[in-house]
Amino acid sequence: MATRCLCFATIMLTASILVLEISAQLECGGNLIGIKTQCSSFIQKEGKTIPPSESCCAALKGANISCYCKYVTPVVENMVSIEKALYVAKTCQAQNIPTDKCGSYIIPHPPSSKA
Ligand SMILES: *[C@@H]1O[C@H](CO)[C@@H](O)[C@H](O)[C@H]1NC(C)=O
Repeated sequence: MATRCLCFATIMLTASILVLEISAQLECGGNLIGIKTQCSSFIQKEGKTIPPSESCCAALKGANISCYCKYVTPVVENMVSIEKALYVAKTCQAQNIPTDKCGSYIIPHPPSSKA
């Protein structure tokens, strides 16, 4: 049955994303569940760029952004705006924000950091 196969594929995809998220969380720190629940409205593709909330920043505390960027796959890029995510990370003063690229997103102008 085609529907059953599709359903199975969806479960596998969801499961592999979950595994990816768990390993990202363990390796890169921060609170990924919190990031997903508290920051999603600030990093979604639609809508204006708005400053992140305190709870979003709290979830990002201790997260290594460069490290998370390693986990930015086309699937992730489809769901979130990397540009906004980097803006949120910067606003929250998260650690290790990359200056060149994140996933396939090329960061236009390196923020004035001590190079
Ligand atoms: C952040 O992640 C990068 C890439 O995985 C790693 O090279 C770096 O050492 C990490 N920095 C910290 C402070 O954990």
